[in-house]
Amino acid sequence: MLLHVVLCLGTSAFKSPDEFKVSLPLRTNYLYGKVKKTLPELYAFTVCLWLKSSASPGIGTPFSYAVPGQANEVVLIEWGNNPIELLINDKVAQLPLFISAYGESSTHICVATWIYAETSMWEAFQDGEKTGTGDNLAPWHPIKPGGVLILGQEQDTVGGRFDATQAFVGEMSQFNIWDRVLKPEDVMTIANCSANMPGNIIPWIDSNVDVFGGATKWPVESCEERLLDL
Ligand SMILES: *[C@@H]1O[C@H](CO)[C@@H](O)[C@H](O)[C@H]1NC(C)=O
Repeated sequence: MLLHVVLCLGTSAFKSPDEFKVSLPLRTNYLYGKVKKTLPELYAFTVCLWLKSSASPGIGTPFSYAVPGQANEVVLIEWGNNPIELLINDKVAQLPLFISAYGESSTHICVATWIYAETSMWEAFQDGEKTGTGDNLAPWHPIKPGGVLILGQEQDTVGGRFDATQAFVGEMSQFNIWDRVLKPEDVMTIANCSANMPGNIIPWIDSNVDVFGGATKWPVESCEERLLDL
């Protein structure tokens, strides 16, 4: 029975298809991960991930989503000594998230937005706690479907024209996206390792992430091990 289960999981190189991290060891313009799935049209979303930065100043770009006509459709970036920013349709929200450069441990962050509204709002969470909210980000702007989702680089054109100074250097895992605003309890439950909730539109699954240019996939420490590192 156990053997049967193992064989059925044979398409994943890892113990279970979500138990991997992507390592981006160098600040270059050619090392990145690519999520094979694209986004549908979105009126709200939550994105969460664990990350560990090993660069300074600025963690760079954990992820970017570009569509034809708008390279900055959704971008999370910390460039130089600026705060971490969420860009939607090239509009900017500065987020109260603080990721240490050369951090010893992983940090869990989530950003939730409800953009298709007059008071287009966002909420930021770090290690399960809400660290701030804001509004007027990109009112009445649905996220456009069918673009390209890149891990570790900022796109100046769909799928390319990366800039080494904006690259993320470090490790990331459990990059999940939901098409709704997660409740604060759900964010805490994920961050404190009480539950593994895969994103309903982008789940963190080995077969859904390709790596390029020297980026690599590794077995990830367990959620509890990441927490104990804190
Ligand atoms: C994790 O967070 C949830 C939601 O806030 C809470 O109910 C649960 O007790 C927490 N578990 C631990 C181990 O802290």
